Order: sequence, then structure tokens, then C-alpha cells
Amino acid sequence: MKLLSFLLAVVLGLATAVSAGPAVIECWFVEDAGGGRLAKKPAALLLRQGPGGPPPRPDLDPQLYLKVHAVLTVFTHTPSPRIRLGEDALLDLSFAYVPPTPVAATSLAPGPPPFGLEWRRQHLGKGHLVLAATPGLAAQMPAAQDGAVVFAAWDDDEPWGPWTGNGTLWLPAVQPFQEGTYLATVHLPYLQGQVTLELAVQKPPKVSLMPAPVVWAAPGEAPPELLCLVSHFYPPEGLEVEWELRGGPEGGFQKAKGQTWLSALRHHSDGSVSLSGHLQPPPVTAEQHGARYACRVHHTSLPALGRSAEVTLEVAGLSRPSLEDGIGLFLSAFLLLGLIKVLCWAAAYWSTSKDSEEK
Ligand SMILES: *[C@@H]1O[C@H](CO)[C@@H](O)[C@H](O)[C@H]1NC(C)=O
Repeated sequence: MKLLSFLLAVVLGLATAVSAGPAVIECWFVEDAGGGRLAKKPAALLLRQGPGGPPPRPDLDPQLYLKVHAVLTVFTHTPSPRIRLGEDALLDLSFAYVPPTPVAATSLAPGPPPFGLEWRRQHLGKGHLVLAATPGLAAQMPAAQDGAVVFAAWDDDEPWGPWTGNGTLWLPAVQPFQEGTYLATVHLPYLQGQVTLELAVQKPPKVSLMPAPVVWAAPGEAPPELLCLVSHFYPPEGLEVEWELRGGPEGGFQKAKGQTWLSALRHHSDGSVSLSGHLQPPPVTAEQHGARYACRVHHTSLPALGRSAEVTLEVAGLSRPSLEDGIGLFLSAFLLLGLIKVLCWAAAYWSTSKDSEEK
């Protein structure tokens, strides 16, 4: 096998795949072609966590196996964090450095090398520096934006490496304008590695249905318009309101009939929005007494089933006094009777005592 000398810096955006076993990453080998020329060759890099040989690839000639030495690896376990509006975001970043030649054999001092860390937010094609840090190097750094704090340190100070480091960014009380692509760059002397994260901010809506809890309507008449309040959600896009009729003569769930529409968005100071969904149901029949109208809201911040609120339809003249009402009535009558008795007794006592005083 030809002797190849190359240096490879690998950037891992898919750390989930890294922890889940072997992963394949597109990369290039830069080969010293002799005479000061470099040849660039496309390759697939099979990554494997921990000890053990390379995964078997019967389609490849073992002669073609190369032992690759990844010098700098930059990765995140959460490539696309979704953070609730107003909560703190931890943008996870780890890096690892394996010196190409043992530090002991070089003139470098033992211990991990100094590094620089930079976090940028890409917005509308422009990069904004969020935070820069160079631990151990006393350089003037621009102030961090948006209250960002970074944890920038090597995890250990083993004299000869390899070393791992942590560059996790902390953003307090995340606001909608902080959404977007975050680019983290780790600089080592002569080397740099980058990883991107997609930060999404979201807030699930509160859902309530009015008038609650009961809608009154006489048979044959249309019940009043139903109002589904969907409040304080983010992002404003992609919200759907569905109307269902549950129970009723046909039983089960059905799409509610009637005219539906959505109000305009109302914007709140925290960046969230609210809107209301409206349903004008068609005239109700006596058989629909006890059925429930529900509005179901779908949004990216909610699980697939969405979130719903319901009201029971009571057709006027069809609700009978319930058992609880009957007991209540009985108890009230009983208490009233007792009270009258006590009053009579008190009045009788008062008049007799007055009589005896007069005597
Ligand atoms: C990096 O530092 C942050 C903040 O202290 C911590 O929450 C996180 O777990 C660390 N990450 C690793 C991989 O140690």
C-alpha cells in the first residue's frame, strides 16, 4: 500500500449518528502527490465510536482501508434544538483534539493547546457575532450579545492528550428574533472546525372554547356562534383549527358542519400571537342534545394529535333536573323548614320573656 501522508479535520454535524453507531461522512483525502503537489480524492469516512476494528465492507478491498487520524472533531448532540419561548437555551457543543504527533515529541509545552471559540447567528444571509472566547489568551473580546454565556474549556489537562472540550452556549430567555442558524467555530493553532445548529423557538397555544360550558338553542334553531380562543403561541405560521361534533345521534367523531373562519392575528409583547377560530353551526335537532362541539388545534409546538377544547350542546327544553339538582332542592327545603322552626321558637321565647318582665 502506498504511503500516504495526510491530515484530516472532520466536522460532525450529526452527533446523534455518532452516538448511535457507525456513520458515514462525505470527505476528501488530500494526498501528498510528491513534488510539492497535492491530490484531492473524494472518500467516504466510516466513523466508529470506541475501540474495535472497522465495520466489515465486503465490497471494499481491505488494501484500501486507511487508518485515519481525526485531529479535530467538533460536534453537537442537539443539531436542531427547539426551545420554548422565554426559556433558556443550551446550544450543546463538544470538541476533541488528538495531536497528530505526540506532544512529547514536539517542542510544545505539555497540556491542551490554547483555543478560540466563536458563536455566530446567521440571519438574512449575514452573520452576527454572538460571542467569542479565547480562554487562556488575554485578548480583547467584543461583548456578548443577548446575554449569551459560553462554557469554554477543555474537560481535562492531561499532559499529552487527547483532549475533549466543551463550548456549550447558554442563551437566557429566548426570544423569537434569536431563531435561526448558529455557527460555532473552534480555532486551534493551524486548524479549525465548525458545526451548525438550527435553533427553533416555539410556544404551544392555550385553547379554550366559548360560550362554555353549554350552548343553548331551541330545536330547529342555529346555536350561537362558537369561538375557539387559541392564545399565546409561536411561531405564527402553520396553525390549523378543526371543528368536530362528538357523540350525537351518529356517535363517534365527525367533522362539524357549518361555516368556519379564522380571525386576524393579535401580536403580544413577548413575540407570541393569538387568534380565534369561529364556527356558526347549522340548526340543531333534538337528537343532538348532549353532543359535544370541539375545536382541535394543530401546531408545530403540539404533539400530532393537537390540543382541543369542547362544549356540550344542550337543546333548550330537553334538559331535565338532574339527581344532584333534586338532592339540592330537598336539602334547601329541609334547611328552610329548620330555619322557620328556629325563628318561631325564638319569637315565642322572646314574647314569653317580655311578658314575665312586664309582670
Ligand atoms: C458543557 O457544559 C455545560 C454547562 O456547564 C453542561 O451543561 C454540559 O453538560 C457540558 N457538556 C458536556 C458534554 O460535558
